[in-house]
Amino acid sequence: MLNWDEYGKDENQTPPIVSEPKTETANTVAEVKQPEPPQPAVSAVSTEPSNIGEGSRAEAARKAVNELDETAGIEELDEMMANGRVQVDQKMMINCKADLNQLVPFKYDWAWQKYLDGSANHWMPQEINMTNDIVLWKSDDGLTEDERVIVKRNLGFFSTADSLVANNLVLALYRLITNPECRQYILRQSLEEAIHTHAYQYCIESLGMDEGEIFNMYREIPCVARKASWGLKYTQEISDPDFKTGTEETDKQLLKNLIAFYCVLEGIFFYCGFTQILSMGRRNKMTGTAEQFQYILRDESMHVNFGIDVINQIKIENPHLWDDQMKSEAAQMILEGTELEIQYARDTMPRGVLGMNASMMEEYLKFIANRRLTQLGLDEEFTGVTNPFPWMSEIIDLRKEKNFFETRVTEYQVGGALNWE
Ligand SMILES: [Fe+2]
Ligand SMILES: [Fe+2]
Repeated sequence: MLNWDEYGKDENQTPPIVSEPKTETANTVAEVKQPEPPQPAVSAVSTEPSNIGEGSRAEAARKAVNELDETAGIEELDEMMANGRVQVDQKMMINCKADLNQLVPFKYDWAWQKYLDGSANHWMPQEINMTNDIVLWKSDDGLTEDERVIVKRNLGFFSTADSLVANNLVLALYRLITNPECRQYILRQSLEEAIHTHAYQYCIESLGMDEGEIFNMYREIPCVARKASWGLKYTQEISDPDFKTGTEETDKQLLKNLIAFYCVLEGIFFYCGFTQILSMGRRNKMTGTAEQFQYILRDESMHVNFGIDVINQIKIENPHLWDDQMKSEAAQMILEGTELEIQYARDTMPRGVLGMNASMMEEYLKFIANRRLTQLGLDEEFTGVTNPFPWMSEIIDLRKEKNFFETRVTEYQVGGALNWE
């Protein structure tokens, strides 16, 4: 059996065939025909060019590789690598100086676990059958006018909202969150956001909607535009390539961005639309679209949980950031988001529809807002509110989410569909 020890011994006993340095071109070498002992297909030690004909570009590439300055790329990492191999206690959520290219040793196991869970739950929009939706959408009496408004407004809002979230992740957060476990999850989440945008586009295209109308709603329909612009103001400064954390002010800006995107955009702004579309699916209408939203909701609930874990870990590592002013601003942001979502509910449901109305949705959103506040360690705002849509909690419940996906793998293999109850 060949191993490295034996390899060395063999080399001493029977020197391997190592070509002498030559100056001839490959063609010249090929002309000298001498019987040679059998050689391995690829010599592990030869640095000679093969006799394959090559042009000047390959020659230039070899010259560049031979002259490669191995320290050039590493110099930029000097500061990170000054302390040698990464130790667990050097890792930090923000402003970390340890080498970010080393995933292990793990410190934030929860982030790595979410990466694994997200990857295990992979799905694609084309897996979902949209045939019944197309028939229903194109029939004259399949849906009421109020139901059609709900489908269009939500595809309008979500088709661009997920792009805003993805941009924030890729252009701002990935750079500023300084540990590789969380970065690994952010990469996974970024892919999921791309899949969500794909899913909305897939619905819009399948239903033959006016794409210009739908994709411009975030600029043209006030209740959609207000939500988008509220989120965008928290991403503007920190997505500037020159933005740096490291001062109390800039660290707080990053914290506000995390609250805006994870707790409000993904944690509140998605909930009226998800509830409306899933309610439609429960009534056996637009079941393909609803199934797409159901998969997306399950991804989103993990995004929210990840974001809340990130925020709370930053608070633990940087307690000075979580002062009374920051707590008050965080609560204000969650309540502003709740108010915007209540307005969206009123606008999309001027009358009762699908067994719900704007007042029920308002109570649900206040119930969600209380939950977001307590998840950040803040006091509830609304007293006496209960969840009018307990079936939503059933869908979101993480324990069931796991069961759902375990089930889904089997169903996917047999081409089955999701159950609504
Ligand atoms: Fe998403
Ligand atoms: Fe998300």
